[in-house]
Amino acid sequence: MINREGVREAFRKYVAAYDAEDPKIRLKIDHTYRVAALCERIAKSLEIRNTDLAWLCGMLHDIGRFEQIRRYHTFVDAISVDHAEFGADLLFREGLLERFSPDLSETERRILETSIRNHSAYRLQPGLGEAEIMYCNILRDADKIDIFRVNCDTPLEEIYNVTTEELRTSAVSPAVKECFLQHTAVLRKLKQTAADYVVGHLCLTFELVYPVSREIAKAQGYVDKLLDFPTENPETRECFAYMKEHMW
Ligand SMILES: [Fe+2]
Repeated sequence: MINREGVREAFRKYVAAYDAEDPKIRLKIDHTYRVAALCERIAKSLEIRNTDLAWLCGMLHDIGRFEQIRRYHTFVDAISVDHAEFGADLLFREGLLERFSPDLSETERRILETSIRNHSAYRLQPGLGEAEIMYCNILRDADKIDIFRVNCDTPLEEIYNVTTEELRTSAVSPAVKECFLQHTAVLRKLKQTAADYVVGHLCLTFELVYPVSREIAKAQGYVDKLLDFPTENPETRECFAYMKEHMW
């Protein structure tokens, strides 16, 4: 049994040290609660016993984000730290976990650590056990589902650091289009244009592991909203029309 109220209270206290007025911080706080709820929902649908642990994975998965923004003033991992590894280091090497959930079993600790370290990786690390893989996939699915929401609720200019002009006129790169056709995630280095970023996020849909995750993502409607991407570029318009037809 995980003391959820204790975890929530510890989380509230932890994030109180950061500036909740900063929209970037606020976004991560809201994202955390949503991902935790989604983890629980997916775990329940899989009828696993420890839904508390899945919930906890969600609550702590982005804990590294707060120190990342404070120390490096950015959420871009490529120019700062890998926020997943960083968060896991804070929790498991620097003792931060004790503030949140000191009573976890060895197995629970291992699963939690593995899930957090792997949550934003392109692929899971090799050699994981069955339970670790399952919790990793639950967290990765939940995180992706909420990313669709974030991309609808936040101006794309802000998320991708591009101008409205770039967004409206950019093309989709051939390699990125190919990822959509192959139903696979888009590697960071392939993304060249503003429209590529949007397609990159849409392609996350193909990486959802559990059918229930796809159902939730579809029902939320954010993927469809992203597909209604306003563009003045005729080729990009055609590309998005195609994707809309072939998304689900
Ligand atoms: Fe994350």
